[in-house]
Amino acid sequence: MIDLRSDTVTKPTQAMLKAMMQAELGDDVYEDDPTVKQLEDTAAKILNKDAALFVPSGTMGNQIAIMAHTKRGDEIILGQHAHIKTYEVGGAAVLSGVNFHVVDDHTGMLDVESLKAGIRGDDIHFPDTGLILSEVAHGSGKIGSLKQLKAIGEVAKNHDIPHHIDGARLFNAAVALNTEASTLSAQADSVMVCLSKGLASPVGSLLVGEKAFIKKARKYRKMLGGGMRQVGVLAAAGLISLNEMRHRLSHDHAKAQTFANAIKKVEGFAVKEAQLNINMVFVTTTHDVADLTAYLAQHGILIGAPKKDLIRFAFHHDVLDEDLEKIMRHIKTFVSLKSAK
Ligand SMILES: Cc1ncc(COP(=O)(O)O)c(C=O)c1O
Repeated sequence: MIDLRSDTVTKPTQAMLKAMMQAELGDDVYEDDPTVKQLEDTAAKILNKDAALFVPSGTMGNQIAIMAHTKRGDEIILGQHAHIKTYEVGGAAVLSGVNFHVVDDHTGMLDVESLKAGIRGDDIHFPDTGLILSEVAHGSGKIGSLKQLKAIGEVAKNHDIPHHIDGARLFNAAVALNTEASTLSAQADSVMVCLSKGLASPVGSLLVGEKAFIKKARKYRKMLGGGMRQVGVLAAAGLISLNEMRHRLSHDHAKAQTFANAIKKVEGFAVKEAQLNINMVFVTTTHDVADLTAYLAQHGILIGAPKKDLIRFAFHHDVLDEDLEKIMRHIKTFVSLKSAK
């Protein structure tokens, strides 16, 4: 199968499996798993923050960040299309008791003027603004600009409001913006990064920030049932993600570009160019998406369709360069079969 539904489908590499077998283990709830410690130290160093916490998923990392930064009744400012708003089961309302104040994020980052307008003053009627949330890279494939992220960071600092980055694909954004991941993380108080997407680990995310924040986060992780025991077995794979897989993401971006250039030449397909920055290609089509999905699945290719006429093709470690030819051949055959009818 060539699985283009998401970069979350990546399987652990042989090197990861070997490292997992050989990992030195302890009980991480007692904070004595050396491999987890090494993973957390590595993440903190790469992202230039005081400390890090290994969590089972990106969702848990984001939710713990909201719990640790806010108090009940606060308002948090986030983008209209933020993962935290759309795909985290409304967890922020349940776990942190916060309101969402939604602002424009059509560039892939919060619109700075809308953000400023969203910060409410000191009035008996208003909730406090407890947190500003950015998503870098944005799930739409957009990345915004470093200038915009810096401006968001400035606004947060000037108003003394914490800023958290949902960086599920922060390392992809760093590649696309031609900068260091630490330059992006410097614009926020806390960042969550995922190991189990383009970085190919089987499980896991990391939350980074100041020591006191991570101490609080560790307790919330336990509260949510995310305190894991001999989890060095997973951290061992995570170390390979951070030390090695992070440096190959540009190949996935190149595969996405090559594919985009090919599919836009096929009748009935158009590439959303503004969303083509990382490893994902968003394509609109006049063809029947359900028919195309079924046809490709019969030929060993899986695709995701977030909307009726929109397809997302996600490129990652397990999609080989030579797979591109096969994918295009089947798409072209599908189109010719349809036009022959
Ligand atoms: C932008 C973004 N944030 C957070 C997450 C949540 O990660 P997880 O699936 O590990 O909970 C995802 C998952 O796809 C994501 O795309």
